[in-house]
Amino acid sequence: MKNMTCIADLRQLYHRKVPRAFVDYCESGSYAEQTLAANRAELEHIKLRQRVLFDISGRSTKTTILGEPISMPLALAPVGLSGMQHGDGEILACRAAQQAGIPYTLSTMSICSIEDVAEAVDKPFWFQLYVMKDRGYIRSLIDRAGAAKCSALVLTVDLQVIGQRHRDIKNGMTVPPEIRLHNLIDIATKPAWALGILRGKRKTFGNIAGHYPGMANVTVLSKWIAEQFDSTLSWKDVEWIKSLWPGKLILKGILDVEDARIAAKTGADALVVSNHGGRQLDGASSTISILPQVADAVGSDIEVLFDGGIRSGQDIMRAIALGARACLCGRAYIYGLGAGGQAGVARAIEIMRNELDISMGLTGVTSIVDIDRGVIASL
Ligand SMILES: Cc1cc2nc3c(=O)[nH]c(=O)nc-3n(C[C@H](O)[C@H](O)[C@H](O)COP(=O)(O)O)c2cc1C
Repeated sequence: MKNMTCIADLRQLYHRKVPRAFVDYCESGSYAEQTLAANRAELEHIKLRQRVLFDISGRSTKTTILGEPISMPLALAPVGLSGMQHGDGEILACRAAQQAGIPYTLSTMSICSIEDVAEAVDKPFWFQLYVMKDRGYIRSLIDRAGAAKCSALVLTVDLQVIGQRHRDIKNGMTVPPEIRLHNLIDIATKPAWALGILRGKRKTFGNIAGHYPGMANVTVLSKWIAEQFDSTLSWKDVEWIKSLWPGKLILKGILDVEDARIAAKTGADALVVSNHGGRQLDGASSTISILPQVADAVGSDIEVLFDGGIRSGQDIMRAIALGARACLCGRAYIYGLGAGGQAGVARAIEIMRNELDISMGLTGVTSIVDIDRGVIASL
């Protein structure tokens, strides 16, 4: 992994090692992918301010998130089907995050279950919750996250209906992959990936399959999941979830100042400014363009986290400067996972930490709390 010098290198290797259908699933945004593109373009556009001749010798990327110490202001975002990007992908990504001293978030739509991951790692992780119509099932998922000692519940609020990703439909994206001739040919050229998946603990949605014993057939299961997302979800349900979950609560998917103000009043511990990596409302604003308004509106009432387009330490610095306490990244670590399993995720984190450290030095700051709008040259 030492030859991997940036996230773009990991991405290139990931594209070579993982079958097309799963690469497309990761890389796609919804509809015309305008919001997906805007997340990256508008982050890259922000210029940092080069400063010189400060004593930058005692730099540290350490900070805290929800009161917990972390080695850098980054957490791994929930990514569904990570265990299809690499066998046991969720366990490997969680181990890499914990070794690097940052939080890992397990998706409801993971391949390895909450219990699989809890058994395989040393420390608590975060669990991301999608609210479904079957509230008894949601209650049991929250109980399972509690029993597994998850240290935060990340409630995703921007997926009451699902934005369409054209390539997933064209690829017949199912779990495991639908047996079409072009899928078979593609998989035959990715033997290391196939072996990893065969050896992995599970080949379907680990958190759900066991719960519905009659649902061994994954096509039925996928259909059930799509029908289950609850379009009636409202702020009242946040209260209901708070009443079931005594631990830290994070609301993920806020992209509007009014919503951020409401989120701050719910008593949740943090919100994530997020548009689901450009996978939901196409035509929505980039997350970086909304972040400063949200940070100004909620002040210190709630911790403000950020995701969308993070591919480097410089990107992390831009988001911190514009008001985020910490960032989450999705695709950046999935590239590492597909490219090299646990070592690949570890490398992705290390790359971004080193970039952040050097960027701090070159902008003349020595601690994360010192990164503010003063490090921005132009927006
Ligand atoms: C392949 C993929 C699957 C995702 N699955 C979930 C999920 O299960 N739950 C969730 O809350 N967000 C999910 N997200 C959104 C991420 O948590 C995060 O918001 C997004 O990836 C951030 O953008 P980035 O990929 O540019 O870093 C997914 C994103 C990707 C790319």
